[in-house]
Amino acid sequence: MALALVLPVLLAVIRLLPATTAMSWFAHPWLAVLTYVPISVAGMLIPRISVAEKLMASGSIDASGNMKRFDWGSRWGAVAMYSFGAAVGTHLIPGNGFFSFIWACFLLAANSLLKTIQAKFRRSSLLNFSLYALSLAVPILISLYVGVMLWQTLQEKMGMAGSIPHPFVAGIWLASSRIVLFLVSLSILGASVSPQFFPYNTYAPKRILLQRTFSTQGQRILGADYDLAVFDANSLPFVFKNVEAVPKFLGLEPGFSWKTVSKSPSGTWMAIYPISRLFVESYRFSAGNKVVLKDDQRLPHIILQNVKEDILNPDRKRIYVEIDMGSLHEVWASVLNITGPLTSWSFSDERLPEVVNGGPPSYICRLSGKDTSENWKFWLEANTSKPLQVDLAVLDHELDDDTRTLLHLFPSWAATIAGSTYLSSYLI
Ligand SMILES: *[C@@H]1O[C@H](CO)[C@@H](O)[C@H](O)[C@H]1NC(C)=O
Ligand SMILES: *[C@@H]1O[C@H](CO)[C@@H](O)[C@H](O)[C@H]1NC(C)=O
Repeated sequence: MALALVLPVLLAVIRLLPATTAMSWFAHPWLAVLTYVPISVAGMLIPRISVAEKLMASGSIDASGNMKRFDWGSRWGAVAMYSFGAAVGTHLIPGNGFFSFIWACFLLAANSLLKTIQAKFRRSSLLNFSLYALSLAVPILISLYVGVMLWQTLQEKMGMAGSIPHPFVAGIWLASSRIVLFLVSLSILGASVSPQFFPYNTYAPKRILLQRTFSTQGQRILGADYDLAVFDANSLPFVFKNVEAVPKFLGLEPGFSWKTVSKSPSGTWMAIYPISRLFVESYRFSAGNKVVLKDDQRLPHIILQNVKEDILNPDRKRIYVEIDMGSLHEVWASVLNITGPLTSWSFSDERLPEVVNGGPPSYICRLSGKDTSENWKFWLEANTSKPLQVDLAVLDHELDDDTRTLLHLFPSWAATIAGSTYLSSYLI
């Protein structure tokens, strides 16, 4: 069983050495089947070859008796294995052993059925085997159904997170070195042709995130950049190699070095936290020309309303704050990151959530679904005189003309999601 998992993984690793493109199978599921299924089956058969050959080689009058014992041994072994799986599964999570339990029950029934038939008819006739297989039809169908669903789900998820495909595992009783050799060659063939295929198409697109990031202070724009992030194993250099118009738009010389491109600073993707933790990588490109606010444009910002101090404990204070969304209309979410000696706030029943790991203690709060024409009011409570650092990120659906132009340069095999984010920081 272990070999059935180890061999495909080994093949996947070896395949990546010469290939520059990961996930070629993504838009062509049959490639994954061709590459990983035969070698997985071969992995299951290899241990049986030696047993089968030993039994054959002993060649004595005993051989058929031995074969029969081996046969029954593996049948009862399978029942024992699934029963054990059901017991462990149920112990860990109630209801989790259902699958193994079904298999164990049906195998048990099939074994007694086989014994009855074998007593009536000659051993190893085709009829015997067909009846045996038929009696297992229910668990086989359930397995197939679950397997296909799992495969589809994994395929979907891997497009987001990027990973090595899980091998299909199939059990077959045919164990001969020629068949195993054939299966292994089939997999190697699959692995060697796969780099010829482009990993994405319109139906299985590459997911890219494009953000126009405005760093603001009051009603001033300090910087306007483009940030690009990808989720899977094929990096941004892979995208730029295939879409030359994008690096050109971003003002990069042909043959530029990726060492000169900076990664997005931390906090860039705060507006979509915690999705940002799924990113494989993210880069920042400066937009070049200076961005000037239009006459009727106002930026989102935080207004300090008043501070109420505790008479008994002057260090303890409650700060009343408002978020003004400026002239934004299509706000998807606003995220606050509050760092410092916070003891309470007006959100979520005045209880603080768990501290986010890493860095100083900070609390993240997401606000969404409120009318943007009204200011959002809340209060924060601290019990020391030290100030609180409040970072605000507002994600808006509306794009400016430049970002819209850039978005349309991406080809149809890329599903690019774009938004404008306004970042600002306050000490209160
Ligand atoms: C929140 O702010 C703190 C302090 O600046 C920082 O260390 C932390 O990474 C921020 N969290 C997020 C999710 O950006
Ligand atoms: C402030 O509150 C925190 C958490 O409740 C507590 O650990 C800390 O000792 C308090 N500090 C002061 C100065 O009261």
